[in-house]
Amino acid sequence: MQHLPEPYRIKMVEPIRLPGREEREAHLKKAGYNLFQVPAEAVFIDLLTDSGTGAMSDRQWAALMRGDESYAQARSWFRFYDAVKGITGMEHVLPTHQGRAAENLLFAEIARPGLVIPSNNHFDTTRANIEFFGAEARDLVIPEGRDIHAIHPFKGNMDLQKLEDVLRDLGRERVPLCMLTITNNTGGGQPVSLENIRGVSEICHRHGVPFFLDCCRFAENAYFIKMREKGCENMSIPDIVKAIFACADGATMSAKKDGLGNIGGFIALKDAALAGRLKNMLILKEGFPTYGGLTGRDLEALATGFEEVQDEAYLKSRIGQTQRLGEALKARGVSILEPVGGHAVYLDARAMLPHIPPEELPAQSLTVALYREGGVRGVEIGSLMFGKTLENGTFQAASMELVRLAIPRRVYTDNHMGYVADVAGAIAEKSAGCRGYRIVEAAPFLRHFTARLEPMS
Ligand code: F0G
Repeated sequence: MQHLPEPYRIKMVEPIRLPGREEREAHLKKAGYNLFQVPAEAVFIDLLTDSGTGAMSDRQWAALMRGDESYAQARSWFRFYDAVKGITGMEHVLPTHQGRAAENLLFAEIARPGLVIPSNNHFDTTRANIEFFGAEARDLVIPEGRDIHAIHPFKGNMDLQKLEDVLRDLGRERVPLCMLTITNNTGGGQPVSLENIRGVSEICHRHGVPFFLDCCRFAENAYFIKMREKGCENMSIPDIVKAIFACADGATMSAKKDGLGNIGGFIALKDAALAGRLKNMLILKEGFPTYGGLTGRDLEALATGFEEVQDEAYLKSRIGQTQRLGEALKARGVSILEPVGGHAVYLDARAMLPHIPPEELPAQSLTVALYREGGVRGVEIGSLMFGKTLENGTFQAASMELVRLAIPRRVYTDNHMGYVADVAGAIAEKSAGCRGYRIVEAAPFLRHFTARLEPMS
């Protein structure tokens, strides 16, 4: 089939500007070589995250005007509730202002010292919320999911044997809940197969353990299932979505991704008693249970977003754009994590900058180079984010040195992506010129957001 373009046209534009080379250098210096500290207006192509950065449709903007800002039982709440129930099939829906608020509510109730919560890979905020309440967040992704270059159609799958072992050894007394992140962001935006989701569900239920989805990118995951899983090729996206959620007892979501909104999240549950307990805490932490930290207009925009995101033509262009960026990068000699996932392409800084040792932060060096070369902002997922200096003074590197280029939804054209590939390609050609970095100032945790660095001399 011939390649089809995006199934939408542009009604409104937002100018972007490439600052000159000297200006970029000055921004880097002022920001302590930390891209989180560079003003967004000085970024030409911003691939820091796909979270809350998407473009809303004309239908969503129109929906904003229909927002009912009544405190309780607003019309917009019922639209949101129906949309979430339509996706998840779950009776109980708790709106939250974003994904981590949903996680915080859930794990404040469920996690405590001595308990273990398995997942394929927990996302950082999920892990942090579990650990904050004293439980252990355990990653059980298949071995291919830990190997940058291993090719597997569903690299986000959970290792079912490992899950079986954990549940057999610890039992439901020590495993209060099992999660599965779709798509698996930490592993590179890799999908999980319907077969694997059903397998996890079967094992959990046999052991009496509730099964929850972290469903931020559920529609992207459903599209991969349709494209790659035998027997699912003739199912519609909404049917695959229903089949996915039919396996689960609950879900947390950051609607800043596949809600196509700029803010929002939810918890969906089958268990009425748990929903009741969480609702009391929702009132304390987020807001009354029919708005939970969101305005009526946010609820409207999300309800519309949940419909639009399940459009197959949209998903084809969305996932296709990510795949095409991956191909363009490879064609220019840039080493990437493969296969390319749904929302982002990950550059392999260890392969691209082999002369920079992990303690000199090669992935951060590549992140800085992307901005210096072309005003492109990605995010370091390497030893700046995960590396540690142990008590005996030795440096413990991250397991991978990656730079994530996350693509906002419906924001950039393939022309922008071609430019990004050219910028990365230019760096690959002169990579020997990239220098290492040293940290000069860092917070005791989550240091990558605020650390200040300087180039090695
Ligand atoms: N779960 C997953 C899989 C995520 O990717 C995120 C956010 C969250 C939970 C938390 O949601 O940000 O709304 O509180 N991921 C963003 C990212 C931040 O850039 O990947 P949140």
